[in-house]
Amino acid sequence: MSKKFFVSTPIYYPNDKLHIGHAYTTTLADYINRYKKLDGYETYFVTGSDEHGQKIEDKAKELNQEPYNYVTSIVETFKDLWVKLGIEYDSFVRTTDETHKKIVTENFSKLVEKDFIYKGNYEGLYCKSCETFLTQTQLTDGKCPECGREVEKVSEESYFLKVSDFKDFVKEKLQSGNVLLSKNRIDELVNNFVDDLQDLSVTRTSFEWGIPINEDQKHIIYVWLDALQNYLTTFEINKKEGWSIDEVWGKDSNIEILQLVGKEITRFHAIYWPIILEMLGYRQPRVLAHGWIVTDSGEKMSKSKGNVIDPIKLIDQYGRDAIRYYLINNIETGKDGKFSDKLLIEEINGILVNKYSNLVSRTNAMNKKYFDGVVPSQGKVGQHEDDLWDKINQEIKTYKEQMNSYQFSASTKTAIRVVEALNLYIDKTEPWKISVEEGLDTVINNLVKGIYVSTTLLAPALIDTSEVVSKWLGEELSLENLEKDFSGKTLDELPHLFERIK
Ligand code: MSP
Repeated sequence: MSKKFFVSTPIYYPNDKLHIGHAYTTTLADYINRYKKLDGYETYFVTGSDEHGQKIEDKAKELNQEPYNYVTSIVETFKDLWVKLGIEYDSFVRTTDETHKKIVTENFSKLVEKDFIYKGNYEGLYCKSCETFLTQTQLTDGKCPECGREVEKVSEESYFLKVSDFKDFVKEKLQSGNVLLSKNRIDELVNNFVDDLQDLSVTRTSFEWGIPINEDQKHIIYVWLDALQNYLTTFEINKKEGWSIDEVWGKDSNIEILQLVGKEITRFHAIYWPIILEMLGYRQPRVLAHGWIVTDSGEKMSKSKGNVIDPIKLIDQYGRDAIRYYLINNIETGKDGKFSDKLLIEEINGILVNKYSNLVSRTNAMNKKYFDGVVPSQGKVGQHEDDLWDKINQEIKTYKEQMNSYQFSASTKTAIRVVEALNLYIDKTEPWKISVEEGLDTVINNLVKGIYVSTTLLAPALIDTSEVVSKWLGEELSLENLEKDFSGKTLDELPHLFERIK
């Protein structure tokens, strides 16, 4: 049976254009997905838009538009961004999709039948921006602890999900390693949210923009209960052979599941979502919580703070490979990381131009000058080659381990160490000073081989550049056989892979 990998991003609120913070989550998902494909996996990648809820309804009213028309125009901008960034998803779920709505209402009824849902009254606080119920003690200075906005008092009839019965279950799951977060953050989640877990209000009656339940038409489903199920409904919406809700989420499935989320929504994915899955009879996911993109002064980039950066502009200015590379490499996975044009330019010039692009163009120039563009076969081999390949093979092993444990920023750094080893090999062997008898053929042959390896490791990040190099080498990139020999191949002209930015 083939190896299978399922990856998801959160589905984004279409109440505004996306910024570089959103692009970060999706780039990480695309990165691991492409890696898995290179490693021979069959994969399924879902992203989408979270279209219901009070926030969207209010925004549409403000603009005098029908909510559906309003979200549709924004969703188009999401899809455009993903194309520009080279995101290769299999499925884009809109929660207004009829199939999604049908499955979500059916699951609601299942939960009612199983006695996990009961009717009551909700009295409490609500943050419309985060679509979150809050208690008095969870507030910071009387405001939402997440976005800092005013909260509102809500008092309405509501159906409740009996999550309080699942405290021990969640604690055990949180501590079992399924949620990839530091131990401190896990303890924080347990102390702040699990110990005092209250049943969750899962329907609203004070507005209309949502999925009505079959049991009681004036109730619409709470937007998080609706949105989380995109990870299930996707398989019915965008069908792919060998992928169904049961094949992925059935308890006996062994498909690798990775759900990427920003740290502020871990609570929903690490507490409520596991309970919902358990109630519905499904298996547990692995959830990776990543940090935030912050400004130079350490402030979270967000619309409410007015400090967002438009990813489209960045892509137009610097090219998508550079942006992808920066996001993956320079934001340490799991931690907050800075983004600014200055930092980006430093990284492009320092690493992509000076180290990688230079290695490839120097090798190409020498191969042309000394061998008329035809890669020589390896001649005599010595200590330099042994050292080089010991190092490269060690780094390949490290890279795979890091990828398989989702240490994304560490993995690109490992790939760059292969580039550095090749540059060092040039410095040590000084090919411009030696003849073929002294091993010039060996040096060029090994450099080309090494470029194949480093480019393959960088390919999930540098999607366009790696394609250019792969064409130049006349060889598909694959992790399955990294030991390729290029002797006898003619290497053509090659454009500069990355241009220095002033
Ligand atoms: N709609 C919900 C998710 C529902 S999933 C069933 C939501 N949407 S969102 O549009 O507000 O944000 C989605 C993702 O963008 C989150 O993972 C969040 O962490 C990420 N980011 C938003 N701003 C960010 C940064 N400044 N930095 C990194 N990621 C950030 O929440």
